[in-house]
Amino acid sequence: MNYQKPKGTADILPSEIAGWDYIETVAKKELAKYGFKEIRTPLFESFDLFSRGVGESSDIVSKEMYDFRDKGNRHLALRPEGTASVVRAYVENKLYAPEIIKPVKLFYKGPMFRYERPQSGRMRQFHQLGVEVFGSKNPATDVETIALAFKLFNSLGLKELKLLVNSLGDSQARVVYRQALIEYLEPFKEELSKDSQIRLYKNPLRVLDSKDKIDKEIVKNAPSILNYLSEDSKRHFSEVQKMLEALNIPYEIDTTMVRGLDYYSDTIFEILTTSKNFGSNTTICAGGRYDGLVEEMGGPETPGFGFAFGLERLLLIMKKEEITIPSEKVLDVYVVGIGEETNLETLKIVEALRANDLNAERDFLFRKPKAQFKTADKSNARLVITIGSSELAEKKARIKNMKTGGEQSISLDEIYSPSFKNIFNLLTSD
Ligand code: HAM
Repeated sequence: MNYQKPKGTADILPSEIAGWDYIETVAKKELAKYGFKEIRTPLFESFDLFSRGVGESSDIVSKEMYDFRDKGNRHLALRPEGTASVVRAYVENKLYAPEIIKPVKLFYKGPMFRYERPQSGRMRQFHQLGVEVFGSKNPATDVETIALAFKLFNSLGLKELKLLVNSLGDSQARVVYRQALIEYLEPFKEELSKDSQIRLYKNPLRVLDSKDKIDKEIVKNAPSILNYLSEDSKRHFSEVQKMLEALNIPYEIDTTMVRGLDYYSDTIFEILTTSKNFGSNTTICAGGRYDGLVEEMGGPETPGFGFAFGLERLLLIMKKEEITIPSEKVLDVYVVGIGEETNLETLKIVEALRANDLNAERDFLFRKPKAQFKTADKSNARLVITIGSSELAEKKARIKNMKTGGEQSISLDEIYSPSFKNIFNLLTSD
């Protein structure tokens, strides 16, 4: 029987881990500067959390959820995104308590699950790194959070980025706008794509970001949500724009951008790559404000703002852009043992080196010295310690700097001494 991984999933192989680690390291450094703390929530939650939080009519809930009943007949779902879970955790753990400094800034990373049609950069199990900020309605929160995303991608070496922003206003504005949009779209009903025809009455805002060519033409002249915003929402959006300009973050307003999750209000944004190497305008990062969600989930009235980006997508773009990922830590010492009689001493040497905080590896297959040196070379070993039967008898070994080729004799006592770390540093200091 040959088993294969489920469609839309991937094995992340050891050779690929350096890229994942690199993104995480760079991200954690930026997140720390902004005061974000990590939160980890379960991979599955109650189905209702997502249907209520993300929205029943969203594609994510209506078509893409991995939901199931457990043996206790609870209706559960693998998380399709992180925001609803983090909001649930914020409420359940009372992170809104007065003694906790506001805004509360949280980040998370991990796998998400959506039953989508797999293609390059679209998977059924994918990984997101996301942030959520609770307790600030200040547009400066929107802008510093967008700035964080931008800086993060810049630090990773991505240059060709485009920031799109829009405002969805408050729920009242959306009700009025929704009606205006239906009235505009109705005369085109027969020409709209099948998906958009279904969405026309259920979720007409989603017709705006349809990828269908004819739909796109039709929505070109649709009324703009920006004309339906309340005075507060208008002021908020104009502040966001002013602050982006003050920080020299270039942006475009895209009034057809609505996002596929129902919890958003006011500012929403996407960061796309415009690189020609990658299918033009692929979204790497998306998010926005969700001022009603905490209350909807049973918490006190609390504004929220956040974003998430897909790690697989980011890695694909970095690969296409030929961004070099710093290689894994090299091997400190490779121990070449010549002859079976050195087996025990070689074992003792690698163990002593590891106890001395060095990465050490050896041969286990009794291969010829030449083959062992080849492995040392391939593993980027900095030093090679060689021991054969005559060295063993003299309680000595040879030690070679692989970069300079310089070789000398060393006593086993020195190798086993804690001060070997100093010898290592001295020999590799060039
Ligand atoms: P989202 O737009 O659904 O937003 O996903 C955010 C990012 O996750 C996308 O831009 C993309 O990079 C990645 N992504 C989504 N689906 C897939 C997939 N099937 N395969 C690979 N990558 C994917 C959210 O999830 C919101 N929770 C973001 C947010 C946080 N809003 C406020 N706070």
